[in-house]
Amino acid sequence: MNAPANPLPPSIHSTGALPKVAWAKGAYLYDIDGKQYIDGSGGPAVYCIGHSNTEVNDAIKQQLDRIAHGYRYNFTTDALEQLTEIIANRCGGTLKHMVFVTGGSEAVESCLKLALQYQTAIGRKSRRRFIARERSWHGNTLGALGVSGFLERRTPFEGGFIDAIRISPANSYRPVAGATAETAGEACAKELEETILRHGADTIAAFIFEPVVGAAGGCAPAPHGYAKRVREICDRHGVLLIADEVMCGVGRCGTWRALEHDGVEPDIMSVAKGLAAGYLPLGAAIFSSKVNEAIMPVHGAPMTGGTFTGHTACCAAGVAVQTIITRENLLARVGANEARIKSMFSEALSEVAAIGDIRGRGHFIAAELVADKEKKTPFPAERKLFMKIRQRALENGLICYPVGGNVDGVNGDIVILAPPYNCTDAELTEIVDKAAKSIRQVLAAENLG
Ligand SMILES: Cc1ncc(COP(=O)(O)O)c(C=O)c1O
Repeated sequence: MNAPANPLPPSIHSTGALPKVAWAKGAYLYDIDGKQYIDGSGGPAVYCIGHSNTEVNDAIKQQLDRIAHGYRYNFTTDALEQLTEIIANRCGGTLKHMVFVTGGSEAVESCLKLALQYQTAIGRKSRRRFIARERSWHGNTLGALGVSGFLERRTPFEGGFIDAIRISPANSYRPVAGATAETAGEACAKELEETILRHGADTIAAFIFEPVVGAAGGCAPAPHGYAKRVREICDRHGVLLIADEVMCGVGRCGTWRALEHDGVEPDIMSVAKGLAAGYLPLGAAIFSSKVNEAIMPVHGAPMTGGTFTGHTACCAAGVAVQTIITRENLLARVGANEARIKSMFSEALSEVAAIGDIRGRGHFIAAELVADKEKKTPFPAERKLFMKIRQRALENGLICYPVGGNVDGVNGDIVILAPPYNCTDAELTEIVDKAAKSIRQVLAAENLG
């Protein structure tokens, strides 16, 4: 049988043939024809210190010249120990324990397993189920996909997932029925508690959520007070709190942990993307002393990870990236840029009636497109506006991250900007201008703006 004409998933292949990248430096990439692209989203919110950083490349090369991989059951390594210390310091509090993996899905998978392992260790083996939220993305492995609320990506695998109960996303722009932007957090926290009680607290291992929802919600931060209430509710019912910070964490929102902003420490947390900034594959499942103290006496170790856990060259990349972020005080810059990016984006789109909301934190800002601003009605999914914007942006020499389905799993058009933490003011302006131009051009071509 012939291979399909285009093997890419539908949300990508309709953008047309992909250019072939040749090289990159800083915020710019070049394809094999010499066309330049500014990286307005660090790919999928990954390349947080730009491309081809000499210091990171040298650190990786030096590590490779010493040893590529010191297998975790035979050796510890400088890179592993240094990165563990850096992350523990950056997390603060009791989040000092971690297992390194090779990406976000694996990090989430390990978080889910740690929650189950904890409940077993403290003698609550009946707690096997997870509560998660609609409009969430936790990754593509079976467990991570099982807790995700991303319709298009789940459909082919329905029936084969772990036991997860999904509740409403907490979103100030689209509050749940009967709530306002101000009461959305409380209403959703209440739903969590009712769900725990309805299913029986003694069946629930953990609640997992993205503190600032990424691809599935479009940079939607938790409404004010939500994270604190969720923390209280989980504690009251013996349910662990897992923060999936794969996309919003590691400084993307202006604090190293996204939940720092809400004054909340989760029991378990996933990070990946920005940890080694795309130089090598790296993620981590980080856990609190409470979890560690429960599992260590019973099982002796977190029972997760694999051959490449703590891969030495990947950890060396992580150390170099995190050293640069700290030395150059990039988190302060990311935090300070939030208002600027939002106001530039709003101004550049001020004439566009279809912009319903501009939101997000730090260098993680999205514009949501709506057909009716008053009613917040999305454009019909068949228009594929977000895909057309992705394609137009590429033609305009911009990489941004448009996604769809944020409203109900099918409809909704979002354009995410996630610029490198260290891009210049001029580069930020270019990113925002090109994104606004691409949105305007697509709406005009569709007779919508
Ligand atoms: C919040 C969140 N969790 C998990 C993942 C999965 O990460 P990865 O694609 O590295 O497996 C992603 C990826 O986009 C994500 O945004």
